[in-house]
Amino acid sequence: MNIPELLDRNKLPRHIAIIMDGNGRWAKERGEDRVHGHYEGVVSVREIVDACGEIGIGYLTLYAFSAENWNRPKEEVDALMELLVNTIRKEVDELKKNNVRMHVIGDFESLPEICRVELNEAIEITASNTGLNLVLALSYSSRDEIARAARLIAEQVQAGKLKCEEINDELIGRHLYTSGFPDPELMIRTSGECRISNFLLYQLAYSELYFTNVHWPDFRKPHLHEALLNYQQRERRFGKTSEQIQTNQPQHVQGNEE
Ligand code: FPP
Repeated sequence: MNIPELLDRNKLPRHIAIIMDGNGRWAKERGEDRVHGHYEGVVSVREIVDACGEIGIGYLTLYAFSAENWNRPKEEVDALMELLVNTIRKEVDELKKNNVRMHVIGDFESLPEICRVELNEAIEITASNTGLNLVLALSYSSRDEIARAARLIAEQVQAGKLKCEEINDELIGRHLYTSGFPDPELMIRTSGECRISNFLLYQLAYSELYFTNVHWPDFRKPHLHEALLNYQQRERRFGKTSEQIQTNQPQHVQGNEE
């Protein structure tokens, strides 16, 4: 029996988040320029988006460019931005056709204008799609996201529209970029590093973390299926006992869905 047949369709995560790491190392191992690894990484992006759509995953968040990535050599940053623009331009019709809805989280205004235009267009074109929600984390820093939420909330308190006592985790969640999305139940990081690296720190509180040595450009459908199988073999307790969980508890964490 192959892995997709082994997967329990009733125990799939609604939201998968991925740190796509190892493009540079993949390229270096082949004596190629780092950018070559990013190009090949796009092939994996396409395959994983397809796979998530096929299985019926609701949300897929990809860490495509961190706020810290601006510190990379200018040529690499430029190449990544160009790759992003070209990929969106090339794939938008396919996304539309495949019922994928695109979203962006992160410091949108810090992206080059050409990226913003292309992304806005893709967001608009796919806005009525109802299948997979593809969330690109771009110029994203989770700590900045939390600080931004704190500022937005403080402004409301200052304006007398909100009382301090009304601030709770649900309210904070509603001021994050991910407001309206369920929290990820599964976070995958490729290429052997076992860190979260400023990615969805608030939202990953109860996520299952899955680390694999496979570099992102090699991470394809069978690897995703393997991660899902591994996820389904775990017991998600949310602070409860094993016995409590076995008496029919839901497998999902509540995010701050609309
Ligand atoms: C990490 O590998 C990867 C990135 C910083 C960029 C990821 C971007 C893509 C896969 C392409 C663009 C994506 C979309 C959605 C069009 P690394 O360079 O840090 O690898 P290393 O740790 O081996 O150096």
